[in-house]
Amino acid sequence: AALDAKIKAKGRAYYGNIIDQNTINIGQVTNILNTEFGAITAENSWKWDAIEPSRNNFNWGNADAIANWATSRGKLIRGHTLVWHSQLPGWVQNIGDRNTLTQVIQNHINQVAGRYRGRVYAWDVVNEVFEENGSFRNSVFYRVLGEEFIDLAFRTARAADANAKLYINDYNLDGPGPKIDALLALVGRLRGRGTPIDGIGSQGHLIVGQVGNVEAQLKRMGDTGLDVAITELDIRIQRPVDSTKLAQQQRDYETVTKACLNVPQCVGITIWGVSDRHTWVDSTFPSFDSPLLWDDNYSRKSAYTGADTALN
Ligand code: G3I
Repeated sequence: AALDAKIKAKGRAYYGNIIDQNTINIGQVTNILNTEFGAITAENSWKWDAIEPSRNNFNWGNADAIANWATSRGKLIRGHTLVWHSQLPGWVQNIGDRNTLTQVIQNHINQVAGRYRGRVYAWDVVNEVFEENGSFRNSVFYRVLGEEFIDLAFRTARAADANAKLYINDYNLDGPGPKIDALLALVGRLRGRGTPIDGIGSQGHLIVGQVGNVEAQLKRMGDTGLDVAITELDIRIQRPVDSTKLAQQQRDYETVTKACLNVPQCVGITIWGVSDRHTWVDSTFPSFDSPLLWDDNYSRKSAYTGADTALN
């Protein structure tokens, strides 16, 4: 495991990547995952809509397949994600009363975190709870329960799996501003209330040439004393892709990998995809392309060299 072995040699826990139904049977992808990466996140199959599409009706097939793939190969698992407003089935979004929603959150977390107890390195317990301006996102969870839905989620997750590291995870924490300020303030309140939280995940969906000072923000997160991780790194390129932009992408991957290494609390990095052939960027940002370390034909890009250089 090249990237993973190198980051472990530097005292960190893992260099990771994602897998799911669309890639688990592609030999080129699984070969790369086997050799290069030490931690696995399910891209979609561990999300609420996939696992509990109707109340207390759990579909474990795809989620178990990923858990078994990872454990049988000695990979750590980052569980993603327990409480998130997106990929959330309509039956949850329509709950209007506190008691029902509380029970539904507790049952979901107990079932999911309980099923994989002892096999998950870290859980993204809550994902994307903030708006860009630092206010809470207007999700069903916040509307019905207020901020305490977050305490409820963390306490329930700790009880369901005492050994998993419990993370709050969000995007656009790569630069200064009201979002990261609000997140750090929330972390302070949670700890003041004795709510169990172990880590902060910075997703890291970035744009080539606009990476900014990721390290400074990771350092602020690490200064809380919690673990920090880059949980969904990709660095997309505005079309048309050319050699200048690919060279910048190499420097950007080196910069971000070094940022983690320069922050003692940063335990690891997860890249959000193996090959440019399979990336959420294509459908979500059609004017962008090629965000990952391997190209459409599963060949290493200069971006790989960037990450690797930082680890040497
Ligand atoms: O499963 C259905 C399939 O049945 C249907 O035929 C197909 C038609 O479009 O859609 C499939 O669902 C898609 C799903 O991925 C599984 O492939 C959804 O449309 C699509 O929206 C969904 O996108 C995922 C996205 O989260 C949704 O929020 C991406 O793959 C996934 O990479 C992305 O990951 C998120 C993280 O979880 C949180 N942070 C941001 C990150 C990027 O958006």
